[in-house]
Order: sequence, then C-alpha cells, then structure tokens
Amino acid sequence: MFFAMPQPESYLSDANDELMRCYRVVRDDPEALIDDLGNHVYSRAHYNDVRALDPVRLTDIERASRLVFLNRTCFNGLWRVNRRGQFNTPMGRYTNPTLVPAAEIRAASRALQDCHLATADFQSAVADCQSEDLVYFDPPYVPAGGYADFDRYHAECFSLSDHERLATVAASLAERGCHVLLSNSDTPLVRRLYAGWHITPIAMPRSINCLGSRRGSVAELLISSVTPADE
Ligand SMILES: C[S@@+](CC[C@H](N)C(=O)[O-])C[C@H]1O[C@@H](n2cnc3c(N)ncnc32)[C@H](O)[C@@H]1O
Repeated sequence: MFFAMPQPESYLSDANDELMRCYRVVRDDPEALIDDLGNHVYSRAHYNDVRALDPVRLTDIERASRLVFLNRTCFNGLWRVNRRGQFNTPMGRYTNPTLVPAAEIRAASRALQDCHLATADFQSAVADCQSEDLVYFDPPYVPAGGYADFDRYHAECFSLSDHERLATVAASLAERGCHVLLSNSDTPLVRRLYAGWHITPIAMPRSINCLGSRRGSVAELLISSVTPADE
C-alpha cells in the first residue's frame, strides 16, 4: 500500500526486525545493496548456503542482500521461520529470477527518504497517533480454513488474542479520531471483530499457498473506520 501511494514522512513498522533493517538499507544505501546483490547466483547450493547464514554475523548490507535474495528465490516468496527464528522456506522453481532489481530498489529508496522506520509491535507503533492520522494495518491474516500457516513471519505466532488486541487497538484509534484501514481474510472471526465498521469484500490474487490448487483469488475484506467515498 505504501509503495503504491507513498506519502512523505510516513511511519512504517513491523515486528520483523530483518524486514525493517532491510527497509533501512534500501532507504539509506541502495547502491551498496545493489552491488552486493550482484554476488548472488540462482543455484540450490548457493541458496542453502545463504539460508544457513546467521544474519547477526553479517553487515547490514549483507543482511539486507540476503533477505532480498531469499525473498526472490524461495518458494512463492514466503517468509517463514522456525521456532528459533531461522528462515526455513525451501528454494522455489523460477526461470531466470531477477536477482538484482536495481530499478525497484532505487524507486523504493526514493519513496522511503523521509520515512520513519521502526521494529515494533503494532500496539506500541501507534501509541502516539493523533486525530486525522491515517493508520493502515496489514496483519498476518486469519487462516481462511484448513492448513494455513502464514502467521509465523517471526518466531512468535500472531495468535487469536493478537487479532483481538489489534481490533481493540484499532477501535481506540478510531475513537481518537484517526482514520483506520485494515485488510484481513473474509472469515467469520474478522467479520465479528470488526462488526460496525465499513467492510468492503475484495477478491485478491494470491500466489503464496503450498497447494497450487488454492492459488488464484482469495476473498479478503478491506475494513475502514470511515465511510468509503463510493458508499
Ligand atoms: C501480511 S504481512 C504484511 C507485510 C508488510 N505489509 C509488507 O508488505 O512488508 C504481516 C506482517 O505482520 C508482521 N507482524 C506479525 N506480528 C506483528 C506484531 N505483533 N506487531 C507488528 N507486526 C507484526 C509480520 O512480521 C508481517 O510482516
């Protein structure tokens, strides 16, 4: 959402420190990142070596480069970690993946120039929001049913109680006069948590699914504290 309509002086945060560190390198040192990405090759041996690296022992540039490389070559771009926080998604099958997306990195860097970037839990991230601020939450989705395990982006899961806490935080922001937008799966739980909000069902293309048959479009909800313009 941010990169589709960048706003100066935005505040972007995520609990995934690896992701936020990468954003910082993209913002502050895009050319060094582009240079380092040139060291990667698309092969199983290299993928396994890079995946096994301990990010804490790398420089910020190498760490960001590792994340971009893994994101572009892993199975369906899925960021998944084990209980010890180690990235464990297998390699994906691609034909000539672009390992050095230089134009995208430079464009993202320009968009991020004035932005504040933080590794934070969503609740502390919005603690200082003021009336009229626009707050967009893009949380790990409530599984639409069956086997779905997309909430392990970092070592701790985003549990049912996190979804309830998010709904409480979102409601208190709306009461404070903030404009709040969220997206989530079209599930009974989400409809219950945001009963009384403006809810717009949308069909989203999705490629992240372990079962090819379940890729395609999935039902999502765009949830808003204010009346959408076309309502
Ligand atoms: C659907 S993804 C959104 C990714 C992000 N919008 C992006 O495109 O870079 C959900 C994100 O929620 C983050 N997350 C999980 N638990 C969180 C928490 N308690 N506070 C803040 N972010 C959290 C995950 O790390 C993951 O990046």
